[in-house]
Amino acid sequence: MKKILITRKLLKLSEDKALKIFDAKLNSIDELYSQTKLIELSKGCDGILTSITDKIDEETINKLPNTVKIISNFAVGFGNIDLKAAKKRSIIITNTPDVLTDATAEIAMLLILGAARRASEGIEYVKKNNWKWSADFLIGKQLTGRRLGILGMGRIGKVIAKLARAFGMIIHYHNRSKLSSELEMGATYHDSIKSLFSVSDVLSINCPATKETENIINAKTLEYFPKGAIITNSARGDMIDDEAMINALNRRKIYALGLDVYKGEPNLNPGYLNMKDVFILPHIGSATKETRTAMANLAIDNLDEFFKTGNCKNKVN
Ligand code: GLV
Repeated sequence: MKKILITRKLLKLSEDKALKIFDAKLNSIDELYSQTKLIELSKGCDGILTSITDKIDEETINKLPNTVKIISNFAVGFGNIDLKAAKKRSIIITNTPDVLTDATAEIAMLLILGAARRASEGIEYVKKNNWKWSADFLIGKQLTGRRLGILGMGRIGKVIAKLARAFGMIIHYHNRSKLSSELEMGATYHDSIKSLFSVSDVLSINCPATKETENIINAKTLEYFPKGAIITNSARGDMIDDEAMINALNRRKIYALGLDVYKGEPNLNPGYLNMKDVFILPHIGSATKETRTAMANLAIDNLDEFFKTGNCKNKVN
């Protein structure tokens, strides 16, 4: 039986599945392992099932025991792992694409709606019991007929486009490459972010976090947007320069912001906390029972496939 380390507590069903297939070391108290502890615990293991909270940088990878041949990340994103360092040590990295697409697209729509319709302010009023209805109370922005810019038209971006069309939005996108007209379904392609941002009444960020996309929303690029645009991020916090964003919100250049992800999670720029036009969630894009179960199953299957065949279709390095 192959030996694996599972760094975070999973749903019971998923842990039971792992225990049937592997000699699995679980983390029953869901301790956040330090890098040193993770290295220590992986001694004698053939693989590790990691989560986005595990920072698997070059130093950590170089200190992993030689027995570790695969790191199966319980996420579609893999910005927490140094892919190159892993490749150098012939450790394969896998992710869990597809299974979290719908759940994440739902959260992206929640961010758009929450930001546009001033949900944070509304919730505060109700909790403080100091509101009364009036014709001009909490007037927000309606989505019907507004242009939605999607930055990163991958699996999640495409589902957001489908959902947003049902709200009457007009879809624009920027991607590394233009989609076929069949996949575009009438969406307008922009070959630069400047062109996309300049038509985005609402922008949904759905691209991967890379060196190229880090701080892609910054003081300069914020000026490309129409005044009063809404920006939402359900991908990774690294894409936004938070100080520039707070400044743009204060100037009303940006009308509202919806965030599910942050730089330096679980911390976030404290400047966001008291802003009434910021709608914030705690990284729950994939947090449904169906999706988290499917992600864990896939992360386990990725390990199994690799141990049986020496390869894995969800390999990312
Ligand atoms: C969640 O953020 C993921 O990448 O799966």
